[in-house]
Amino acid sequence: VGLVVVRLRRLLPDPAPVEAADQLAGLALGDRAPPERPFVAVNFVASADGRASFAGRSAPLGGPADRELFHLLRSQADAVLVGAATAARERYGRLVRDPDRRAARERAGLAPDPLALLVTRSGRIPFDIPLFADRDSSVCCFSAVAVPAHPVAARVRIEPLEPYSLAAALRCARGELGVRSVVCEGGPRLLSSLLGEGLVDELFLTLSPRLVGGGDEPPITVGEALPRPTTLGLVWALERDGFLFLRYRREPE
Ligand SMILES: NC(=O)c1ccc[n+]([C@@H]2O[C@H](COP(=O)([O-])OP(=O)(O)OC[C@H]3O[C@@H](n4cnc5c(N)ncnc54)[C@H](OP(=O)(O)O)[C@@H]3O)[C@@H](O)[C@H]2O)c1
Repeated sequence: VGLVVVRLRRLLPDPAPVEAADQLAGLALGDRAPPERPFVAVNFVASADGRASFAGRSAPLGGPADRELFHLLRSQADAVLVGAATAARERYGRLVRDPDRRAARERAGLAPDPLALLVTRSGRIPFDIPLFADRDSSVCCFSAVAVPAHPVAARVRIEPLEPYSLAAALRCARGELGVRSVVCEGGPRLLSSLLGEGLVDELFLTLSPRLVGGGDEPPITVGEALPRPTTLGLVWALERDGFLFLRYRREPE
């Protein structure tokens, strides 16, 4: 699936030339979900010096293959989870724009569009982004405080959670919205919180052949340190144009 064929070199586990769409096909993330929440895969790009953005945006670190893998991963999830401020900054719109990809989702038994899950403790929801203006999109916002409804074209559900936690949000997504797989697209604060609550199953990390050099650009995690390092297993490593596409899974404790 996809409009373009993106060829990559698979370095691990078994070296071979691969097409991105074949490599990402049939991940069946939802089949590996624990009973109480969806399976959570996180997707980030980092510079070679470990930063998650340049001039406040992640796009300058990416490239065509990175974008393709990003969309292929999105296309496999029941829902896409993102911090409300990141959705605003990156001007989120309809999550799967390509009709071929939506048709492929339906063939795989998924809804044509993934559900957008926005999280915010403060209740600052960016109702002005294109996502909310799209009548085919469905958005669920988990907030720690009550947020008044807003007239927008998208189907919107606002879930105030008391007490607030990401575990509670994911429990609700699973139990009430039937979400079995989530791809989290950031940002760094949200990733730290997810890790802190033990909610990350896999990490898709693009290591970009770019140096950012410092400044205020965050690393891919921002927040409290974990009580001990989380151990990951490397599932695969792909390469294209000097970009490394690494897929890790969290090893059992
Ligand atoms: N390299 C990448 O792949 C990548 C991906 C995404 C973003 N980024 C970059 O990261 C930067 C943004 O960093 P950031 O750390 O501010 O983004 P972030 O993780 O999205 O955190 C800010 C947003 O997420 C919400 N949030 C965070 N943790 C939460 C939690 N535990 N529960 C509920 N809501 C939570 C915040 O809401 P409240 O403040 O209301 O609580 C706020 O809306 C941007 O420059 C962006 O370009 C990079």
